[in-house]
Formats: sequence, structure tokens, C-alpha cells
Amino acid sequence: MKRLMSAMLALCSVATVWAGAPDKHLGVASCASSICHGSARPLAAQAVLQNEYTVWSQFDPHAGAYKVLLGAKSKEIARRMGLPNAHEAPACLACHAENAPVAARGPKYQVGDGIGCETCHGGSERWLATHYATPKVTHADNLANGLTALEDPKVRAATCAGCHVGGGDRFANHKMMAAGHPRLVFELDTYTELWRTSGGREHFRRDADYARRKGASVAMTNWIDGLATATRLQNSLVAANFKNAPIPDFGVYACYSCHRDLKVTQWQGEGRRDPLAARTGELRLQDGHARALVLLARAAKSSGEQRLVVALRNLQEASAQRPTTVQANAAELDRVVDQVATELRSHAWSRAELSRALEAFAAAARGGAFPDQAAAEQAAMGMVLLLAELDLDRKARGDLDQLFSALKDGDAFDGARFARVLSRLKP
Ligand code: HEC
Ligand code: HEC
Ligand code: HEC
Ligand code: HEC
Repeated sequence: MKRLMSAMLALCSVATVWAGAPDKHLGVASCASSICHGSARPLAAQAVLQNEYTVWSQFDPHAGAYKVLLGAKSKEIARRMGLPNAHEAPACLACHAENAPVAARGPKYQVGDGIGCETCHGGSERWLATHYATPKVTHADNLANGLTALEDPKVRAATCAGCHVGGGDRFANHKMMAAGHPRLVFELDTYTELWRTSGGREHFRRDADYARRKGASVAMTNWIDGLATATRLQNSLVAANFKNAPIPDFGVYACYSCHRDLKVTQWQGEGRRDPLAARTGELRLQDGHARALVLLARAAKSSGEQRLVVALRNLQEASAQRPTTVQANAAELDRVVDQVATELRSHAWSRAELSRALEAFAAAARGGAFPDQAAAEQAAMGMVLLLAELDLDRKARGDLDQLFSALKDGDAFDGARFARVLSRLKP
């Protein structure tokens, strides 16, 4: 438990080292002036585009996240869950709004603004007035004043996955799912790029100037940090849900352990060679991100592969035992994930190794390592990333379309078909 706490603290402490009261959120209106971030068009006068507010308010899905709670779909979810409404339910606001603590809401803060600037960039109380005064005020000064270091993939992963996976008081539980909430999907590099270019506009420009100021974006590092963070957040949900209840919330399990038809041919059991293959008849915890991390360790010929497989298996088996055994094994998996991610992050991914990773994913699919849609979509997003790194993504367009079409219907997921398409994606 102690180890688990310290691992969770480590996850939070990356965001800020400020020890005082939480920084006040001054509200989207504080950023929106046309001479600040509300220009109609991207400008060239400053390092940043200055039209971030305009792009956010018109094209960013996060700007509408609160409004979604007022819509017909949310009304239906709330009705099915027996909630008076969705837009005042703390369980929904936790991920669909900025939701700063009441004491940290400045005069212009409005819950109706949805997921505003400071949800990701951090409460601006100590940096708003000075952050633009470059070169006198440096990026390091801003960070010291509470700006979130989103350019760091680990920090960004914790920020995005905090909602897109969950953790703490954010949990898309089984009741929400059964009431119609979409199943959550996340991969840091893919989602950052999807979001950065929402509506065909750019939230920020990934150019040479940005790279010089904040470092280049490295797809492999994004991927690895995203997988490690998602695994740890998933782990924290497992640990929290096994604590008190005799039966944990079904939302911590792999959805398709329960939701699949009864044709025995669909089940891929112990006959399969891959150590990640699902055990026959087992109720599996959600582990799609962790499975992808295992395969990256395999491609890098890291001894971490074996340690990860053992830690994953131990946690899985503990879930049928005592809650304290689950806590201990979740903490151990956290520890191993940290070690492996540290090693993989500093690994030099040569072309040959990227190709080996492609092959590792294809072979693992044939061996039954992606038993359901949620695990398979992690593999698919990884394949796209690897092909792009190898500059082969355009050539493989047709096969990639087929890969995603094999993922369309989770209820009818066919692991053998997925493996066949995956195997065609050879370098
Ligand atoms: C753990 C965070 C989390 C919680 C808790 C959560 N949501 Fe969501 N919700 C999301 C994310 C992330 C998406 C976007 C999913 C995607 O497309 O990948 C989403 C999508 C949705 C959508 C679909 C939006 C669309 O554009 O079609 C609806 C409706 C919705 N949520 C309603 C709710 C309601 C109602 C609640 C409370 C009962 C709730 N959500 C709780 C994270 C959350
Ligand atoms: C969903 C999270 C999120 C939201 C919401 C968001 N941002 Fe960002 N923003 C990012 C990330 C991630 C980056 C890229 C990393 C970085 O440089 O900080 C970024 C980059 C920027 C940059 C460019 C920084 C640079 O050095 O080039 C500016 C300016 C900016 N955001 C302003 C805003 C404003 C203004 C809003 C609100 C209207 C906003 N952001 C809302 C996540 C977000
Ligand atoms: C406070 C919670 C929260 C945070 C933080 C957050 N998101 Fe989201 N994100 C959501 C919700 C909720 C939606 C769905 C909004 C809707 O459908 O209107 C969403 C939607 C998205 C979508 C569109 C998904 C789709 O299926 O169309 C992408 C992409 C995305 N987010 C990426 C990111 C990235 C990248 C970050 C971090 C830089 C991030 N998000 C941070 C809650 C969050
Ligand atoms: C331990 C088994 C189990 C797991 C794991 C599980 N569910 Fe369920 N699910 C159920 C049961 C039981 C019901 C209720 C069926 C009924 O009412 O007839 C249900 C109902 C549902 C429904 C409503 C279906 C309907 O026909 O009304 C949806 C949607 C759903 N679950 C989605 C999910 C998602 C998404 C996940 C993964 C996050 C998940 N479930 C994980 C057992 C499970």
C-alpha cells in the first residue's frame, strides 16, 4: 500500500512542485482577448499562434465537453443511471468540465466553459500576468509559477489520460457504460495529434521553432510514456475498486471477457503460444496498454519483458484472491512498469528495431495476444505509429484501412482475421 501511495504521488507531483494552496483558475475569458490568444487568424508576431482560443472554441472537442452533458445522449445516460441530471453530477463533471476545486475558482471561471485552457495548462493565478513577457520571463519561470509542462510526454500523458483512462475521482464505471457511455480509448501520440489538428486547424504548431524552445516530439517516447501512464492509472482504478467491495466494479475488467457470444471457436485459449494469450474462462482485468508495453520490451530484447509478463499475470491471478493481495500486486506492477518505461524511453530505436517491433506485434497477434477489440486497437494504433516512423504509412494505406475495419464491431471481433491483416503490414 505504501509503495502504491508513493507511486501515485509520483504521478501527481510531476505536474507542480508548488506547496501552497492550489493555484486559482482564472477562467477561459482571461485568455480570450484578441491581443492574447483570441486572434481570428494565426499570427507571426510571437512564438505562439495567438489564435488558440478561437481554434479551441470552434473546433476543439474539449470546448463542448460540458455541453455534451446537456444533450440528449447524456440525458438518456442520466435517466438510465437514476441521476437527477448529468450536468450537475460530480461523476460526469469530473471529466467533462474544468472542475477546479471551489476554493480555486477565480471570478471569471465558468463551469459551462467545459474543458478550458487551465484544465490542461494549470491554474494561472501565478503566471497569467507575466507569462508572455519573453525574453525577460522564461519558460522555466512560468513552470515555477505553476504552468504545466505539457511538452514533457510524461506530464502530458498524466494530464490527458487522467480523463481518457481515469483515476482518482474520475472513473467511467460499468453503470455509465451500461447506460450508454462510449468505452474509453487512448494512445498518447495518436490522441495528441488527433486533438492538436481538430477541425483541420492547429492548437499549436510543431515546427522548428517549437522544437528549439521545447524539444522535438518523439513518437516512440510519446507512445511508451502514454502506455506506462495509462497502465498505472488503470492499476490505481483496480487497487481502489478492490479495496472495499466484495465484487469490484465491472468497469475495471476487460469488457469483452463478459460481452461476447457463446461460440467456442471465438475463444482463444491456452493452446496459443504467446504468454499474453488469455487463459480459458478467465475474467480478465483491462490490460490493453500493458500488453503493448510488453511487446515493445520484446522488440527491444529487454529483460523487462519477462518481468512485466510475470507482474501482469500475478495481478491478474490476485484478482481472484484477497483485496490486499491485489493492492500489493498492483504496486509491484507499477514498479516494473516504471523500470521498463525508463529503459525503453532511452532505447535507440533503429530502423531494424522498429521493423522488429512490427513483426513482434504481428506474431503476438497470431499467438492470441490480442484477445479482444480493446487490446487489438492498442496494437493497431501502435502499428500506425511504427509504419509512420518507418515512412511506410502511405504505402500501407489499404492494409491499415482493413485493420481498422477489423476493429469496427467489438461484439464481432475476430482475432484470427485481425492477425491476418496485421501480418500483411510487413516493412
Ligand atoms: C473518466 C472520465 C469520464 C467520465 C467519468 C465521464 N466521461 Fe463522458 N466521455 C469521456 C471521454 C474521454 C469521452 C470521449 C470518448 C472518446 O471519443 O474517446 C466521453 C464521451 C461522452 C459522450 C459522447 C460524446 C459525443 O460527442 O458523442 C457522452 C454523451 C458522455 N461522455 C456523457 C457522460 C456522462 C453523462 C457522464 C456521467 C454519467 C460521463 N460522460 C462521465 C470521459 C468521461
Ligand atoms: C486538452 C488540453 C489543452 C487545452 C484544453 C488547451 N491546451 Fe494549449 N496546449 C496543450 C498542449 C498539450 C500543448 C503543447 C505542449 C506545450 O507546448 O505546452 C499546448 C500548447 C499551447 C500553446 C503553444 C505553446 C508554445 O510554446 O508554442 C498555447 C499558446 C496554448 N496551448 C494556449 C492555450 C489556450 C489559450 C487554451 C484555451 C483557449 C488552451 N491552450 C487549451 C493542451 C491544451
Ligand atoms: C478534463 C478531462 C479531459 C482532459 C484533461 C483531456 N480530455 Fe480529451 N476529451 C475529454 C472529453 C470528455 C472528450 C469528449 C468531448 C466531446 O465529445 O464533446 C474528449 C475528447 C477528446 C478527443 C476527441 C475524441 C474523439 O473520439 O473524437 C481527443 C482526440 C482528445 N480528447 C485528446 C486529448 C488529449 C491529447 C489530451 C491531453 C493533451 C486530452 N484529450 C485531455 C476529456 C478530457
Ligand atoms: C464481469 C462481467 C462484465 C464485464 C467485465 C463488463 N460487463 Fe457490461 N454488463 C454485464 C452485465 C451482467 C450487464 C447487464 C446485462 C443485462 O442487464 O441484461 C452488462 C451490461 C452492459 C451494457 C448494456 C447492454 C444491454 O444490452 O443493455 C453495456 C453497453 C455494457 N455492459 C458495456 C460494458 C463495457 C464497455 C465494459 C468494459 C468497460 C463492460 N460492459 C464490462 C457484465 C459485464
